[in-house]
Amino acid sequence: MARYAAYPETLEFESRTQKSRDLFKKSSILVPSGVHSNYRLIDPYPIFCVRAQGDRIWDVDSNEYIDFNMAFGTMLAGHANPEVISAATEAIQHGTIFGFEPASAPELSSIISSRFHLDMVRISTTGLEGTLNAIRVARAYTGRSKILKFEGCYHGSHDGLLVSVKPSEAAAGDARQPNAVPASKGVTSGALEDTLVAQFNDLESVELVMQKNEGGVAAVILEPIAMNMGFVQPVKGFLAGLRKLCDKHGSLLIFDEVKTCGKFYHGASGQFAVRPDLAVLGKAIAGGFPLSVLGGRKEVMESIVPGKVSNAGTFNSNPLSVAAAIATLTRVLKQDEFLRLSRLSGDMGRAYRDTLVDAGIAGNVSWLGPSGALFFGRGAVRNWRDFLRCDVGLWWRYYLSMLNRGIIPCATGPDEQWSLSVMHTEESVQKHIEAWKGVLSRLRGDAPKMDLVEAV
Ligand SMILES: Cc1ncc(COP(=O)(O)O)c(C=O)c1O
Repeated sequence: MARYAAYPETLEFESRTQKSRDLFKKSSILVPSGVHSNYRLIDPYPIFCVRAQGDRIWDVDSNEYIDFNMAFGTMLAGHANPEVISAATEAIQHGTIFGFEPASAPELSSIISSRFHLDMVRISTTGLEGTLNAIRVARAYTGRSKILKFEGCYHGSHDGLLVSVKPSEAAAGDARQPNAVPASKGVTSGALEDTLVAQFNDLESVELVMQKNEGGVAAVILEPIAMNMGFVQPVKGFLAGLRKLCDKHGSLLIFDEVKTCGKFYHGASGQFAVRPDLAVLGKAIAGGFPLSVLGGRKEVMESIVPGKVSNAGTFNSNPLSVAAAIATLTRVLKQDEFLRLSRLSGDMGRAYRDTLVDAGIAGNVSWLGPSGALFFGRGAVRNWRDFLRCDVGLWWRYYLSMLNRGIIPCATGPDEQWSLSVMHTEESVQKHIEAWKGVLSRLRGDAPKMDLVEAV
C-alpha cells in the first residue's frame, strides 16, 4: 500500500496514531495484511479501537472521534445502546447457545416478518450466509442455475457472488453486457459461468442478459440502493422494472438488504414499494450483534426442507443475538427515529453539496434516509462505470483529513457511505460539517474544478 504516504494528511495521521501503527506492525506478523477483514485495511494502516459509546469511538492512542462509519452502518442503534446491552446481558445469564431453538426466536420471527413484509424467515449470523442461502434456495425453487448480479454490487465474501464487485473497465468490457470478472483469485470458472452481470440502473442491460440466457436465470440479486459503490440510488422505475422483468422471464427477484434494511423502517422494499421474492437482512437489525435473515414468499421459502434444500448454522438464531434484535427492533429503531435521522442526514448532504458548489469543485452528493455519500469528480454516479471516473486519491486525502479533525466521516473507502445512528445529535452533525468545510478549504487547490455539482 502506502500510495498516499507523501501527503501531509498521512503524515499528520501517523503522528497521532503511533500506538495503532505499532499494533498494526505486531498484527501483521500473524495476520495476513494485519487485519481480520480485508475491508478494514487502509493506507497507511487502520486505527485500532478500544471503546465506543453513543456516536463516539476511541482509538488506542486516546483519540476521540465522532463516528459516521458506525461499523459499516451496523450500529444504527448507536454504540453500546443501553436497551440492547441490557437485553443481551439479561439473555447471557441464561446461556449463550442451546443447540435447540431458543424460546425467544418465534417472537423475533414474527417481528421481522411483519415489519419487513416477509411471509417466512430463517435467522442466521452473517450477511454472507444470507445471500449464499438465498441463491441456493432460488436455484432449488426454479431448477435453474444462473444468477444475475450487478457490476459494483457486493453480497458478501463467497465465491458465487464474488464476481464483478470492483472490476476495472478494461476487464469488464461492454457496459451493457459486462464480462463476469472474478473479484478474487480462487473463484472458480464454474462460479463465473453461473454468474451473469448487468449494469445497475439500466433495464435494457438486464433485458439483454436475460434474453441471452432465456430460461436459465434463477434469480436477479441486487442491493436496492447500491451501497458498495458509494450510495447509488435506483433511478425511477428501475426496481419496478426489475420486478416486471423477473416475472416475465420466470426468475426470482432477491433484494440484498443487508445494508438497506437499517436505513428505512420497512427496509428498501417498503421505501420503494417493490416486493422481492426473497430478501436478506443483516447488519443493523441486532444492534451490533451478529444476526442475518433470509426471508420471503412462503412458497419459495418452503423449499427449505431438511434433506432436500440445505440451510443450517450452529449459531443460527442464537439467544444472545435474538434478544439484542428484539430490543433493537422494538425499543430502539422506532419509526419516528427514522424521520429525525433522515432530516439530520439531509442537513449533511445539503451542506456537502452547497460547499462544493461555493468552492466550484467537481463533485456530487447522494443521500436518502440516514445515509449518503460524497464523490469527487464530474457527473452523477448512477452505476459502477460512473464510479470509476471518481477521484479516489482526493477522497482518501479528505478521509484522513477528517480523521485528523476527530471525525470518522463515513465507512472505510470511497465506495462506502456515512451512517447516522439514533445516538447522533444535531451538534455532532454540525461538527462534521465544520470539519468538512475546513478540509475542503485545504484540499481545494488540488480538486478538479467545475461549474456544476449534481445531487442525486
Ligand atoms: C450489501 C451487502 N451484502 C452482504 C454483505 C455481507 O455481510 P457480512 O459481512 O455480514 O457477511 C455486505 C457486507 O458489507 C453487504 O454490504
